Amino acid sequence: MRLLVTGGAGFIGANFVHTAVHDHPGDSVTVLDALTYAGSRESLDPVAQAVTLVVGDVADADLVDSLVAESDAVVHFAAETHVDNSLADPHPFLRTNVIGTFTVLEAVRRHGVRLHHVSTDEVYGDLELGSAQRFTEATPYNPSSPYSSTKAASDMLVRAWVRSFGVNATISNCSNNFGPYQHVEKFIPRQITNILTGRRPKLYGAGANVRDWIHVEDHNSAVRRILESGEPGRTYLIGADCERSNLSVLQEILTLMGRDADDFDQVTDRAGHDLRYAIDPSTLRSELGWKPRHPDFRDALRATIDWYEANEDWWGPLKDSVEDDYRKRGQ
Ligand code: NAD
Ligand code: TYD
Repeated sequence: MRLLVTGGAGFIGANFVHTAVHDHPGDSVTVLDALTYAGSRESLDPVAQAVTLVVGDVADADLVDSLVAESDAVVHFAAETHVDNSLADPHPFLRTNVIGTFTVLEAVRRHGVRLHHVSTDEVYGDLELGSAQRFTEATPYNPSSPYSSTKAASDMLVRAWVRSFGVNATISNCSNNFGPYQHVEKFIPRQITNILTGRRPKLYGAGANVRDWIHVEDHNSAVRRILESGEPGRTYLIGADCERSNLSVLQEILTLMGRDADDFDQVTDRAGHDLRYAIDPSTLRSELGWKPRHPDFRDALRATIDWYEANEDWWGPLKDSVEDDYRKRGQ
């Protein structure tokens, strides 16, 4: 398969490309990535010989058209992804997430190429703390942040292009990922690297907000399964039954890293902070036979801590400026 992976130098995209190269040697992989602050050429170093990296903008119609014309399938990861950044400056989120997805859709429509669109469970808004409710494929969209509203818009575009133009596309909405190569702005790597650099971890508010965690390799194995066996036009929810409060995740990190469980700072809470996300992944399991290979959160978290300990050359150069920006926002 000739695969075009947009955003393949970012966290989830780079992990997807690593697996494609190792597990599917018959694939030829082209990455289209703008190498924004969130993308890194180094994340592709382990597979650089097997991958063509095109540095460019997913909203550049001519460039996207020429790459799609030479592909059998597109896996569309490219996006602006950090909620806090979307609160500080929404504009790039509109351009990349909405116009970028529109650009990809027009190209796959012209060339009759298969598309898998990677999205988030944040499009559904949030759930009550402590309730038994979970998101399903039928949950109405109700996004809260500029980030999630632009991802919701991108999903709607995909659905419209499927219905109106018969584009062969699937969508997945996944819960919070963690694992190697995640940018240090995000919750888990931020706390690990704070401890590794002698800073105190930073918890928004009381830390009661709940996220449903999944290891990035499990997200990607589900994306691969949907790409190969998913039904055109369908949406699939991806999750690994791993709800945790932010406070409990932070205390787990502190304990695994040999610190006291109360050795952190509480900082200004996020505006409009979603309370709880929880995915019901039963359709993916029953229809496509997918299951996670990293079901033990503590083990996967320990391996992630080990990765950040061993790869300071990857994240070290980013750390100070990320923390400077957070400090200016009181976080
Ligand atoms: P990331 O921020 O780590 O990587 C995004 C990548 O997209 C970067 O390499 C960046 O350079 C690239 N990019 C940004 N703007 C671009 C543009 N205009 N043109 C080309 N490339 C551009 O993000 P991630 O965490 O790897 O997320 C990937 C996808 O998965 C996103 O669509 C996101 O919405 C979705 N998702 C993420 C999570 C999560 O927990 N991280 C969960 C569910 C879904
Ligand atoms: P994040 O990794 O930004 O993912 P998302 O907001 O897309 O779920 O944050 C995960 C949770 O952790 C979220 O509830 C906000 C919280 N958080 C903190 O408490 N401290 C931090 O330093 C960061 C970055 C996030």
